[in-house]
Amino acid sequence: MAEPDLTESGSAEPGPTEPQLAKPDTLRLFFALWPDEATRDALNRTGKWLHQHWGGRRMRADTLHITLAFLGSTPVGQLEVLTACAEAVQTEAFELILDQAGYWRHNRIGWFGASQTPPQHLELVGALNAALQGAGFPVDARPHVPHVTLLRHSTGGEVPECIPVHWPISEFVLVASRTEADGAHYDVIRRWPLDLNQG
Ligand code: 2AM
Repeated sequence: MAEPDLTESGSAEPGPTEPQLAKPDTLRLFFALWPDEATRDALNRTGKWLHQHWGGRRMRADTLHITLAFLGSTPVGQLEVLTACAEAVQTEAFELILDQAGYWRHNRIGWFGASQTPPQHLELVGALNAALQGAGFPVDARPHVPHVTLLRHSTGGEVPECIPVHWPISEFVLVASRTEADGAHYDVIRRWPLDLNQG
């Protein structure tokens, strides 16, 4: 006789000896641009350079990114809605040139940004946030400043010249953030390719 399949019915409770895997019901999420290895290395070098001038705490290389939309604590059940929002975005792949260090006094962040934001970047952020807003997620009303946070608790100071970083943007991602003893860890949980440029 075939084994009864209890997996669909929800009645397959783990026995006393089976470990119960703790699955979170919420995740701390954000949409982001995630660097390829060469871009990450270049951003990390800029972080070292900026740290020599402005001090503070350098971000670990594996955390470097640009946030496109910050969602914060989100029920896991919303992942499919977020996927639909991401799939609504139709932006062409582009190159983002980061060439400008910046400092925000209010949160003591030292960052690396773009003196010229390409129209595709603004379109990507606009389309994603419009889809999120349409689905009922709160969105940031402030104008978007594309930036990679490189330093926290930094003093800032005179702005040093930085070697530009040419970042080929061919996808965007959804990231879950975990707080561990040694700081924030980011897991890329989904990726969406941008449209390849024609011609
Ligand atoms: P920051 O780099 O300027 O600190 C993960 O926390 C990412 O989401 C970071 O890049 C952070 O920006 C960004 N972020 C945007 N809004 C946020 C908020 N309200 N709280 C925490 N992080 C936020």
